Amino acid sequence: MDEERLAIVTGGARGLGLAMVDALLGQGVVDRVAVFDLLDDPIDDERVSVHRCDVTDAGSVRAAYAEVGAVPRVLVNNAGGDPGSGVTAAANGPFADPGEFRRMVDLNFTSAHLVTSIVGPDLTEGAAICSTASIAGQVASPLFAYGAAKCAVIHWTKSMARVLGPRGIRINAVAPGIIRTILWEQLEPDIDRYKQNVVSRIPLLDDQTPEDIADAVAFLCSGRARSITGQTLAIDGGMTAGEPIFGSWETADGRSWSSPPG
Ligand SMILES: NC(=O)c1ccc[n+]([C@@H]2O[C@H](COP(=O)([O-])OP(=O)(O)OC[C@H]3O[C@@H](n4cnc5c(N)ncnc54)[C@H](O)[C@@H]3O)[C@@H](O)[C@H]2O)c1
Repeated sequence: MDEERLAIVTGGARGLGLAMVDALLGQGVVDRVAVFDLLDDPIDDERVSVHRCDVTDAGSVRAAYAEVGAVPRVLVNNAGGDPGSGVTAAANGPFADPGEFRRMVDLNFTSAHLVTSIVGPDLTEGAAICSTASIAGQVASPLFAYGAAKCAVIHWTKSMARVLGPRGIRINAVAPGIIRTILWEQLEPDIDRYKQNVVSRIPLLDDQTPEDIADAVAFLCSGRARSITGQTLAIDGGMTAGEPIFGSWETADGRSWSSPPG
């Protein structure tokens, strides 16, 4: 019988991470998942074990990994966000409190390195790593610390790909756009205002679901992505395609001008 394929998914107890657990199992990428999360709520699936763990703490990650007692084929560094204080956190202003800033970077970037530094040395040929970045790490954003941390994930993914590639290990990232998880419920509780001010600005005029992001993670961790490494895939309805640089106007001699034409 073939060896059982295991995934470790950090932050897999709810939100995008929980959808990733479902997608990895449902699409047959792995047979079993170990979730590392601050929450230890059981997931109603005998193929999933939940291990209470703080991904910013090396001792906690080592203990959870020892509890699992097996080497994964897939590692998903997804835990992140700002579960404590919401998007108004002191970390996110232009002159934010340095301690809060560091806390945000620890959770949203350093934790990916920390978990990978503990699990990564055991990975063997054919393994895949995927981390959850954000479009806030690709374009300017009012979330200063969060965006910088997610940008670091994207750059780190490229550097890691260069050294892990010759060992047959791939590493990629996803950059989710707008998903109405707890983060967005805190930012704009009013659904009509959310649609009017946020969703209407997405080129595809629709926000993303946890399943949209999870499908991309399952693909990047599967054999179908065997030639893809070092990349960050934005799942954002076209938001990072950017605004037209000049917009459109009427010239003095009456021509209408638009960039891009449309
Ligand atoms: N929701 C969005 O719109 C959005 C957009 C872009 C990127 N993201 C990113 O997607 C990822 C998941 O976000 P979500 O929206 O599902 O958030 P969420 O808060 O619903 O889920 C995050 C999960 O991570 C766990 N977690 C938090 N801190 C942890 C820690 N120190 N150790 C272990 N587990 C911890 C939480 O308990 C929770 O289960 C995050 O990295 C977030 O930054 C989310």
